[in-house]
Amino acid sequence: MTTGTLALAIVAVILAQLTALALVGYHRRKGMSPDRTSHPDTPLAAGNGPAWDGYRDFVVQRRIMEDAAESICSFYLTPVDGQPLPAFKPGQFLTFKLQIDDPETPPPKTLVRCYSLSDRPRPDYYRVSIKRVLPPAGNPAVPPGRSSNYFHDHVQEGMRLSVKAPSGHFHLMEQEPLPIVLVGGGIGVTPMLSIINYLLQSDSQREIWFFHGLRNSSEHITKEHLESLAKGHPNFHLHTCYSRPGTKDVEGIDYRHRGHVDIKLLRLTLQLKRHQFYVCGPRAMMESLVPALEAWGVATDDIYYEAFGPATLPKHQKPKAQVSKPEMAQPAITVTFSKSGKSLTWNPNAESLLEFTEDNDIEVDSGCRAGSCGSCQTALKSGEVDYSQDPDADVESGHCLLCISKPKSDLTLAA
Ligand SMILES: Cc1cc2nc3c(=O)[nH]c(=O)nc-3n(C[C@H](O)[C@H](O)[C@H](O)COP(=O)(O)OP(=O)(O)OC[C@H]3O[C@@H](n4cnc5c(N)ncnc54)[C@H](O)[C@@H]3O)c2cc1C
Ligand code: FES
Repeated sequence: MTTGTLALAIVAVILAQLTALALVGYHRRKGMSPDRTSHPDTPLAAGNGPAWDGYRDFVVQRRIMEDAAESICSFYLTPVDGQPLPAFKPGQFLTFKLQIDDPETPPPKTLVRCYSLSDRPRPDYYRVSIKRVLPPAGNPAVPPGRSSNYFHDHVQEGMRLSVKAPSGHFHLMEQEPLPIVLVGGGIGVTPMLSIINYLLQSDSQREIWFFHGLRNSSEHITKEHLESLAKGHPNFHLHTCYSRPGTKDVEGIDYRHRGHVDIKLLRLTLQLKRHQFYVCGPRAMMESLVPALEAWGVATDDIYYEAFGPATLPKHQKPKAQVSKPEMAQPAITVTFSKSGKSLTWNPNAESLLEFTEDNDIEVDSGCRAGSCGSCQTALKSGEVDYSQDPDADVESGHCLLCISKPKSDLTLAA
């Protein structure tokens, strides 16, 4: 081989490598994975924007009670327009707008709530699984959860619902096919079901550990389905934990561990290597487990978590400790509401701009009160806000989410 041919061969090899790298980069940016391409009925993940604008009409095809206690009901939804269902990223949620017409509390009210998709992306239906929310323990005089009880008591097969496109930043990350650890506590199981069903249906070879925390068999949903997946897929490891087993619940048969899912159990079960963690469950579980994972040495970038809206509790129910912590004296901040024509001094004890706005009788839309649904998005005409957490809803430029923000400077809001 002459020096010229050798040089040409080297250039050809370099060009081939650059082309391959460019293709890999393209596929990563598009969020594609080898898992998806091998299953034609699983459409590609949704891109960055919503799959449709605003609300779309869906019809309830089926409803199925999932647990013995009849506290969790699944709703199967298809679009009224008959168009194909756009895919979503397993772990994302739907946002519903409900018109609740209760003769006892007229006039009809609009409620916005988010519910995670509880099955894998499929072309034929979306599924959500909704837990009936009771009054807080020890306070039976308080009304039960409005949306969840409306779903359980009034949303029947054939009924139409207004639904926003799937969204949310808590979803399966496919770029790095690391072993994956899913922790679902209580109704926090729903996004995990979507992730598990998607990965196993796609014949993913990733190691999947699922720690499912619940009280006992009375609220055990999709038990047979999960157990049969564990039998059929050696890479799927199911660890069910009952915190308060019933008298007939047998350890080793009905469930695997007694107690809550905690860091001790994870450390005893998992090998010391890099995993991706996904955590969704009650506030107490999240507040203990997420810091414990970090303290164990798990990189923050490998922990994804979602709370089902701690702020769904009305504002007056928030723990007092949060408003009484000592604060440095701050210069007074003025919040101006341009539509209402009010200029008010910010109350540093307010939990959020949403709470401050409501306290001052200024009407704004709200839903999840957790930065997820986008209902409280308001144009920010001047000034800056600080967010208490990253917004899950996509916020338009020049706008802010009132429910998770506080003013950083004097502000003018278009409200
Ligand atoms: C991203 C996301 C995903 C979610 N996914 C799911 C899911 O898959 N499945 C699911 O079941 N849920 C899910 N949720 C939670 C869901 O959105 C609702 O928050 C939940 O159903 C409760 O709403 P509600 O209208 O029934 O209760 P609300 O009416 O908001 O009431 C909440 C609580 O406040 C109490 N309360 C009501 N009035 C008063 C009062 N005057 N004083 C004191 N207390 C009062 C109620 O008794 C209840 O305990 C998700 C939330 C988010 C943010
Ligand atoms: S109320 Fe849902 S994002 Fe603020």
